[in-house]
Amino acid sequence: MMSYIEAEHTKQWRVNPEYIQASRCAIQEASALLQAGRTVAFPTETVYGLGADARSDDAVARIYSAKGRPSDNPLIVHIGRREQLAELAESVSPVAERLIARFWPGPLTIVFPAKPGVLSPKVTAGLDTVAVRMPDHPVALALIAASGCPIAAPSANRSGRPSPTRASHVLEDLAGRIAGVVDGGASGVGLESTVVEVRGDAVTVLRPGGISVEQLREVAPDVALDPALAPAASDDAGFQPRSPGMKYAHYAPRGRMLVVSGDAAPVRARMLHELAVAREQGQRTGVLTFDEHAPDYGDAAELVSTYGRASDYAEAAKRLYDALRAFDEAGIEFIVAEALREEGIGHAVMNRLVKAASGHIVSV
Ligand code: TXA
Ligand code: MG
Repeated sequence: MMSYIEAEHTKQWRVNPEYIQASRCAIQEASALLQAGRTVAFPTETVYGLGADARSDDAVARIYSAKGRPSDNPLIVHIGRREQLAELAESVSPVAERLIARFWPGPLTIVFPAKPGVLSPKVTAGLDTVAVRMPDHPVALALIAASGCPIAAPSANRSGRPSPTRASHVLEDLAGRIAGVVDGGASGVGLESTVVEVRGDAVTVLRPGGISVEQLREVAPDVALDPALAPAASDDAGFQPRSPGMKYAHYAPRGRMLVVSGDAAPVRARMLHELAVAREQGQRTGVLTFDEHAPDYGDAAELVSTYGRASDYAEAAKRLYDALRAFDEAGIEFIVAEALREEGIGHAVMNRLVKAASGHIVSV
């Protein structure tokens, strides 16, 4: 297993997503590596992905070993054209068709019954389903088209680290372990795609993400959350989430983390109290809050990061993983974060926050 990750030179290309024609050479070189069974990280509209030819056992094995990813956690397959879906999925239901028409390309991953014998069994981790999405990013689409293959791509971070929203994050985690990274600047949404399963008319959200439950309901009347997403479920050892990745403690910063939810005044009081206790114990402390509340924490913590303005949850999604990485860089040992309301993209942000905090959330 180690043989893949010894002394690999990680090539870098800079590509301007607004002017992709100028970067034909870079796309050609990167896609040639993919065709040769190597791993290349690339930007999508959600986060950076670590791509490899989804049909090749050897190529997909390189993804798992570079990331240190558990082999029972299946990968999302990325396609560039709607017609590619027929090569991967046994069938596409009418409700799935409606979701595709409305949200592809875009941050929605749909789980389909898999066509046998097409993909490396390592992609689906032994399941008889396959998760597919069409990313809405010119660099991702150009790379998929040039490679001519379905691309398996998990987020391009070491397993257990926050997902990368910039090429520099990818290099922090994976330099020397992957064949290359295409740098197309910061990714847009900042959080991963929404993963859904469709059964008859029923849509089940397995992972909240870039497309909100409210948006899904505009197209499909019957949308429910997988019971595994309820916070209590993660404490129940016997509970099996349908999206295998949801059972891992993801996105964890190195410091201990607590999320505080409730009305503004008691939240501020509790956050200041937790910070004071941690500082008394000699810990380096950090705060994650909204711009409007940042002045409350002026001297109370060593690093105060913000989600942006309280009215702009899309900005919070963009900044979250960057902020978590910055706490690590500053050597922060205790982080206290203000909760968001679980509406729109706030639902996905809260899902990632609570995971980052290993379930440590208090309501005041
Ligand atoms: O935005 C994204 O989705 C990013 C970018 C790179 O496209 N990719 C990403 O991949 O987040 P990853 O591997 O970090 O997360 C994939 C999620 C995991 O929770 C996994 O368990 C779930 O999708 N998944 C994959 N195949 C599945 C399947 N057949 N059934 C249920 N869940 C599946
Ligand atoms: Mg991931």
